[in-house]
Amino acid sequence: MNNSFYGRNFLTLLDFSKEEISDLLTLAAKLKAKKKANAECRPLTGKNVVLLFEKDSTRTRCAFQVGANDLGMNITYLGPTGSQMGKKETIKDTARVLGRMYDGIEYRGYKQETVEILGEYSGVPVWNGLTDKYHPTQILADFLTIIEKFGHLEGINFTYFGDARNNMGNSLMIGAAKMGINFTACAPKALWPSANLVETCKKIAAESNAIIRLTEDAMIASENADVIYTDVWVSMGEPESVWKERIETLMPYQVNQKIMENAGETAIFMHCLPAFHNKDTKIGVDIFEKFGIDAMEVTEDVFESKQSVVFDEAENRLHTIKAVMYATMREPK
Ligand code: CP
Ligand code: NVA
Repeated sequence: MNNSFYGRNFLTLLDFSKEEISDLLTLAAKLKAKKKANAECRPLTGKNVVLLFEKDSTRTRCAFQVGANDLGMNITYLGPTGSQMGKKETIKDTARVLGRMYDGIEYRGYKQETVEILGEYSGVPVWNGLTDKYHPTQILADFLTIIEKFGHLEGINFTYFGDARNNMGNSLMIGAAKMGINFTACAPKALWPSANLVETCKKIAAESNAIIRLTEDAMIASENADVIYTDVWVSMGEPESVWKERIETLMPYQVNQKIMENAGETAIFMHCLPAFHNKDTKIGVDIFEKFGIDAMEVTEDVFESKQSVVFDEAENRLHTIKAVMYATMREPK
């Protein structure tokens, strides 16, 4: 692997070439194999990273924590409360303070601008653990999973159902365009990604021979799809008041058995998680009581089916996040 990553931020996949994304995926696969073989060597021993979370997380937080530990590093976790960040102290000042103490910074929160300011002023690598706009580390895990299942990314037909202008819709479209994956976003027009981003991705796709397609037709979108992907209909940070409208507009885009059958038996089902596929959560019960539905973006049978690879994806968060930390922190020899 080349060393072009050293000292760089990981804020959006737009900043990385096809070859670089491919290198990160290869590195993640190597780190995964090493971990399985109990052959890890803690190459970043003695370094310190801070994890800033303004929103909740299970996978991303644990992947950064375990990944940092596996690489030999120490971590500090700062949650939505308990630090001065954003309340008494500006992000720019926080960046300069943390950069004096830590060798790397992870940020999950609202504005993409916040992670960009951290990246600009801290002087150490900053990794985007999700903002309202992008979720780039998730895409690496998804792509590693697709490689494990199909052996390649180029030419894969990938269909995303749901809120296509959220962080996942945006980031998957960018990643697909970069890597030569044919990307279809299937959603009502109001939930399509911005025209600007679509245009940017179409230009990138022209180089990688990928097709970017937007449609409101679930049958056209799922036909011949290798991957059927969905995400929650209401993202973190959105008000409860949007649930009603979102459920009404997105119910025709729920991933159910009909969609999977139309895609065919070799298609896989993917979801970044957490997913609303039954009533066994607090919000699941709440939604059932208010709207009478027992699943949202994906039905229980699809989620639990053999075609579902969601827990492989979740595991791959660890290996890919570890690759990002390692690549950006490892000093070139
Ligand atoms: N997929 C994902 O980012 O999950 P968490 O919100 O649990 O980190
Ligand atoms: N779109 C979701 C992704 C969660 C990983 C959210 O932002 O809540």
